[in-house]
Amino acid sequence: MKCGGRELGLARGVFVTGTDTGVGKTLVASAILRAWRKAGVDAVPMKPVQTGCTGPADRLRAPDLDVCLKAASLKVPSSLYAQMAPYRYRPACSPHLAALLAGRPILISRILAAGRALLRKYDRLVVEGAGGLLVPVGRQYTMLDIMVSFGLPVVVVARPGLGTLNHTLMTLEMLRFRRLTVLGIVINQSKPGRIGRIETDNIRTLKERGGVPILAFLPYKRSRAGMNGLEVPLDRPCPGSRQSMRHSFRRVTS
Ligand SMILES: Nc1ncnc2c1ncn2[C@@H]1O[C@H](COP(=O)(O)OP(=O)(O)O)[C@@H](O)[C@H]1O
Ligand SMILES: [Mg+2]
Repeated sequence: MKCGGRELGLARGVFVTGTDTGVGKTLVASAILRAWRKAGVDAVPMKPVQTGCTGPADRLRAPDLDVCLKAASLKVPSSLYAQMAPYRYRPACSPHLAALLAGRPILISRILAAGRALLRKYDRLVVEGAGGLLVPVGRQYTMLDIMVSFGLPVVVVARPGLGTLNHTLMTLEMLRFRRLTVLGIVINQSKPGRIGRIETDNIRTLKERGGVPILAFLPYKRSRAGMNGLEVPLDRPCPGSRQSMRHSFRRVTS
């Protein structure tokens, strides 16, 4: 597996993207983070751009980062929190609009500096994007540009239902075009519903046409405890990590 970071020097970690917002990126990022930490890897979450933040203006909370920190039972001081979520905005809208409304443009260089600082202290990063690949983060750049700058291997989270073939295959095509390493697809059922003929065929078709492995199918879980039990098998070790690891994770399909 190619594992070379473009800007960060060493690709220590993973970038979790998705075909859309609400597909389960945060859930998958939490699952990866929990698994790595359980295996003794000092991994931490990062959410470079978060909109829909809450709390007082000088201490905005990033909800996705909080979900990941909680899932990993991590408590961090505000200085570290600021590195893990360097751009926090209150309006729940696209990053480019939130940045415009706040008069605080997003600088990729600043995001990378925060990522580098975290990697000086920790083994790996589990980075979560916002929305999908082509979400604008400013006048010129997209989330995909941030991903290319990080150069981390990518996990794509996708829905199982109607429409996922186009969205997922387009996402993979763009990632290949920008020469990012894709570890695989996680198909996540973020809404209740039955897995019928269409969903089963979608999973099979993505396996046949995606050109990357299906890492896991995560079923809809009613409870938080159920969601915390979901696992994402990333069993290929990433060279360059301080601690090499090789773990087989049980595939959870029910
Ligand atoms: N497998 C699942 N079972 C039940 N609820 C889920 C599942 N996956 C995601 N959800 C819920 O769907 C919503 C969107 O998931 P999230 O991980 O936040 O998506 P994203 O990060 O892509 O926006 C959240 O409320 C989350 O708890
Ligand atoms: Mg999220």
